[in-house]
Amino acid sequence: MKTFAIVNQQPGSGKTTTAVNLAAALASAGGKTLLVDLDPAAVATRAVGRQAACAASHLITAEAEPADTLVETHTPGLKLIPAGRSLAAAEYHVTGLPGSQFMLAEQLTGLAGEFDFCAIDCPPTLGPLTINAMVAAEQVVIPIPHADTDFHALDALIDIVHTVKTRFSPCTVRIRGLLRVCFENKTQPGKAAQRKIARDYKPLLLNTIIHKTPALADAAGHAVCVLEHSPRSKGAAEYKALAREMTDGNEL
Ligand SMILES: Nc1ncnc2c1ncn2[C@@H]1O[C@H](COP(=O)(O)OP(=O)(O)O)[C@@H](O)[C@H]1O
Ligand SMILES: [Mg+2]
Repeated sequence: MKTFAIVNQQPGSGKTTTAVNLAAALASAGGKTLLVDLDPAAVATRAVGRQAACAASHLITAEAEPADTLVETHTPGLKLIPAGRSLAAAEYHVTGLPGSQFMLAEQLTGLAGEFDFCAIDCPPTLGPLTINAMVAAEQVVIPIPHADTDFHALDALIDIVHTVKTRFSPCTVRIRGLLRVCFENKTQPGKAAQRKIARDYKPLLLNTIIHKTPALADAAGHAVCVLEHSPRSKGAAEYKALAREMTDGNEL
């Protein structure tokens, strides 16, 4: 199972949109895919048409068998571990326990044989849930919104991924890439940020760019992924392209 953590401590940076639609695109291409909602706000859970639940908190506290936390979604091949408010309490519960950073990684190992891919939607913090996601993941994807990138926060995040890798052996996480999202060709403030991104972060950039598309926001409002809501939209095509890039162009 190849696991991607979608991380950015800034709220509204496109994590959930990316986790949900990347997971759906991987599933639609034939990969058995698990979407883990690790945000107590449960936005990803609702975006795939499910209700907030205790599953992710029970997973992190090991109160449930991993297989018992899975729920089906409308998208064939895509299963979900839903989140809910109890996940915030679970985060406090595990913090301070010896080895608490490994809780998610250990639990997901129990599901590795069932899935080809796992996408983890992280909360807008760099707290214990996000650290658990990084330790569990092989690769971190950092969505960066076009006109609104906080470069100090981005540098801190890049440093933290490296720290997690060196401190939490045998974790082998690496930054797979920065994903440009909500991209608008014509926005003036965004142009200066894009020049800086192209200059200072070039080796980290993913090739795929996700443009600002109403279909992506509409799909979430209708509690379905964009591939189902607007299969011919630019948003659907771009998340399919991202799925191909994440699988290195390999047929699934
Ligand atoms: N490419 C996009 N085009 C249009 N709207 C987008 C796009 N990506 C995200 N959004 C919208 O931006 C808002 C924040 O995105 P979200 O994925 O929830 O961010 P996060 O999970 O980082 O808080 C949501 O309303 C979402 O629908
Ligand atoms: Mg979110």
